[in-house]
Amino acid sequence: MQGKKINIAVDGYSSCGKSTIAKGLARELGYTYIDSGAMYRAVALFAIRNGWISESEMDEEQLRQHVADIHITFKTNHQGEQETYLNGENVEQQIRTLEAANGASRVSTLGFVRKELVNQQQLMGKQKGVVMDGRDIGTVVFPDAELKLFLTASPDVRALRRFDEMKANGENPSFGDVLANVKERDLRDTTREESPLRKADDALELDNSDIGIEEQLRWALEMFNKITTEDEQN
Ligand code: DC
Repeated sequence: MQGKKINIAVDGYSSCGKSTIAKGLARELGYTYIDSGAMYRAVALFAIRNGWISESEMDEEQLRQHVADIHITFKTNHQGEQETYLNGENVEQQIRTLEAANGASRVSTLGFVRKELVNQQQLMGKQKGVVMDGRDIGTVVFPDAELKLFLTASPDVRALRRFDEMKANGENPSFGDVLANVKERDLRDTTREESPLRKADDALELDNSDIGIEEQLRWALEMFNKITTEDEQN
């Protein structure tokens, strides 16, 4: 890939295919992909394992005291896929359960958790050449990202995608539960006080309810080429 490297922010609702596009872009451009949601999931897993988070309660104080003990890293496996490590342990499978997703949605409402993770994410983007997906990447983590994409899709379409993903992972969820979970997380993600999910003013929006992965990726690469060419001309 020629030219100056940039940072790319991919934001949107849960299960809207952000990671597929972000990974595809990173692969095509030779950039580093970072799944910021995995970091919130890893914090949630840490809290769940310590018994600080249950169906209805969260021990915020314990988490506040121990947030500095949570070290999250990423490593690429033999298949070239990125996996999440929590204090040196591979937790890629454990963070993908509904329980961890719910926990992540809850710990992500806490300002001190966000502050810690945003710091780490900004450090990861310092050298540029990063594609990061999440909820606040274009608004908070990389407000100066040269390319910002915002993906949307209907709740039913997103629930079906998540449902299929979980089945493929050997889980056996009910579709109703998955749909309810998607809606619950949408509500929490968009109404929380700390960095709620919203489209950055300069983000390019795409509703991908009826668009295949190839076409989305083509669109994203077109946007990348447009922006980087304009940049070189200025
Ligand atoms: O993208 P995901 O489903 O893996 O994200 C898990 C949760 O983490 C989701 O409910 C929202 C939260 N999150 C966030 O608040 N900010 C981010 N940058 C990424 C995820």
